[in-house]
Amino acid sequence: MTTIHELGAEQLRTRIAAELERTRARTAGLTAAVDDADLMRQHSPIMSPLVWDLAHVGNQEELWLVRDVGGREPVRRDIDDLYDAFKQPRRDRPALPLLPPAEARAYLATVRDKVHDLLDRVPFTDRPLVADGFAFGMIVQHEQQHDETMLATHQLRVGPPVLHAPDPPQPRVRVADEVLVPAGEFTMGTSTDPWALDNERPAHPVRLPAYVIDAAPVTNGRYREFIADGGYDDPRWWSEAGWAHRTEAGLTAPMHWRRDGDGWAYQRFGRWSPVRDDEPVVHVCWYEAQAYAAWAGKRLPTEAEWEKAARWDPATGRSRRYPWGDGEPTAEHANLGQRHLWPAPVGAYPAGASPLDVHQLIGDVWEWTSSPFRGYPGFAAFPYREYSEVFFGDDHRVLRGGSFGTDRAACRGTFRNWDYPIRRQIFSGFRCARDARPDESGR
Ligand code: AVJ
Ligand code: FE
Repeated sequence: MTTIHELGAEQLRTRIAAELERTRARTAGLTAAVDDADLMRQHSPIMSPLVWDLAHVGNQEELWLVRDVGGREPVRRDIDDLYDAFKQPRRDRPALPLLPPAEARAYLATVRDKVHDLLDRVPFTDRPLVADGFAFGMIVQHEQQHDETMLATHQLRVGPPVLHAPDPPQPRVRVADEVLVPAGEFTMGTSTDPWALDNERPAHPVRLPAYVIDAAPVTNGRYREFIADGGYDDPRWWSEAGWAHRTEAGLTAPMHWRRDGDGWAYQRFGRWSPVRDDEPVVHVCWYEAQAYAAWAGKRLPTEAEWEKAARWDPATGRSRRYPWGDGEPTAEHANLGQRHLWPAPVGAYPAGASPLDVHQLIGDVWEWTSSPFRGYPGFAAFPYREYSEVFFGDDHRVLRGGSFGTDRAACRGTFRNWDYPIRRQIFSGFRCARDARPDESGR
C-alpha cells in the first residue's frame, strides 16, 4: 500500500474514505455483538459503557471534521458536554442521559454523511489541519483507539463469548533471547509522517550507549517462573510504590489468570483455557513488569531504547517507519487489528523482525517502557492540548508497539501510548533490557 504523502488529492480522498469505512465496520461489529442493555451497562468503573464510546466517536468526528474542517453547522451541539472525556469521569458516565443505542447509531450516520460530503469538496491545502488529510487521519486513529478501548471493555464483560476470530499463527522460527544494540545516535520520532500525532514529533537525534534488549516480549512461561519463585511476595523486586500497590490491590498473577490444578488458566473474551507458555504475557501493570525485570536481573527499556531497536537500520543509519521497513503492516508482519483475539506465540512473525532481528515489536502486546510520558524537544501541541500535552509528567508511563487489538492506522514505530502504572485492563505486556557489559559492546 502506498504511503499517504505519495498520493495525489483524488487518491487521498479514496484512501480516507476507505479508512473511515473500514474503521466504522469495526466499531459496528464491536457494538453489534451485544444487546442494548449490555451496551448501556458499565462493565467496570474504569471503563465507559460501550454506548458512550460509540457516541463520543461520532461527537469527535463532528467537532473536528464537520464543524472545524468543514465549517458546517453543528449536528447536535446539545450533547458536546456529555461526550467530553474531561468533563465526564468514566465512573460517572453510566448515570448520564446518554443517547440510547439506536439514537447514537443514527447520530454517527448523520455525521458520517456530512463527512463524506465535505471530503468530496475540501481542498487539501497547506493549512496544517487539512494538509495530507491530517484531520481525517486523526479521526480515523481516534475511532480505532476507542475501538481498542471497547475491545478491552469486552474483555471485562462477564457472560458467554460474543467475539470470534481465528487463532494467531504458530511459531515459524526460533527467536534468540537477547540482541545487542551498538552505541550511537539514531533518529527518534518523526517530522514527516503525515498522520503522526503531535507527541511523535519532531524527529530528533538521540545518542544511546550500547544496550541489550530482549528479542521478544516476555512470555507467559517466563512470567510463571517469576510467580513460582515467589516474585509477588518478595519486596526486593518491587519499587516502593509498586509494592504498596501490589499489597493494596492483592496482585498475585496477571489479570484474568486463575490457578488450574498445578498450573494456570486464563480467561479471554469469555473463554477459559490453560495458559500457553510461548505467548507474550498480557494484562500486567507497569509495576508488575518492573518487578519481573528486576527479578530477571534486568530492567525495562527506556522509550528511546525501544524505538532504536524497532526502527534503526544499521546499514543506512536511517530510522524506518516499522521494524521491517516503511511499508504498511500486512498479516505477515504483525498481529494487529483484532484479526486475532490474543497475542501470537513468539516466532510467529519472522517477516516483522527488525534489522537487528528483534521480533514482535509491533502488535501482540503493548510494551511498557521505563519512561514517563513527556514532550520531545521542540514539541508543539497540535491540534489540541488535550490529546497529549495535558498528560505529560510523571503520572503516566509510555507503552510502545501496539497490541493484537490495535489497528494498523493507529500504530507505527514512532507511535506513543501512555497509561497509569497501575493499569492492566489494557493489552499490556513488556520486554526487558539491560546495559551492555564491556565485553559485549567491544569497548
Ligand atoms: C492514547 C490511548 C491514551 O484512549 O485514552 C482517545 C487516546 N485520546 N480519545 C485514550 C484518546 C482521546 C488515549 N490513549
Ligand atoms: Fe476520545
